[in-house]
Amino acid sequence: MIALGCDHGGFELMQEVKAHLTEKGLEFKDFGTDSTEATDYPIYAKRVAKAILSGECDRGILICGTGIGISITANRFKGIRCAVCHDVFSAEATRQHNNANILAMGGRVVGPGLALMIVDKFLETPFSNAPRHCNRIRQIESDEN
Ligand code: RB5
Repeated sequence: MIALGCDHGGFELMQEVKAHLTEKGLEFKDFGTDSTEATDYPIYAKRVAKAILSGECDRGILICGTGIGISITANRFKGIRCAVCHDVFSAEATRQHNNANILAMGGRVVGPGLALMIVDKFLETPFSNAPRHCNRIRQIESDEN
């Protein structure tokens, strides 16, 4: 189950993402927003982060104007690893190396063609499970140096 959240800056791109996921038969939960009316990105970042941490959803996709504000908010939650990706290489690498559980994009940065390729790569790529990557991910939330 994929959790979706966006603000007004990401609303139009999110409609493309939703149509794409539906076409592929992938299930999602839409946590808003539901129009291009101005709103606040932290609302949707928090909803999606909580849905993942509770186990209600496995992965998330967040879209604001740049992908930045919404990712900063999501990354304040322990256990959330939200990566802003505007290229396919980064989407693959952040799954393999960082086990990112949320993809963030900017609706004012990427067009729908590239964005959907990024979404596909993010969703299809497994975590490598290599000990060095597991160790580094553990260090993200550790107080040790
Ligand atoms: C909204 O205008 C814009 O600030 C927001 O979508 C996002 O880009 C913030 O990081």
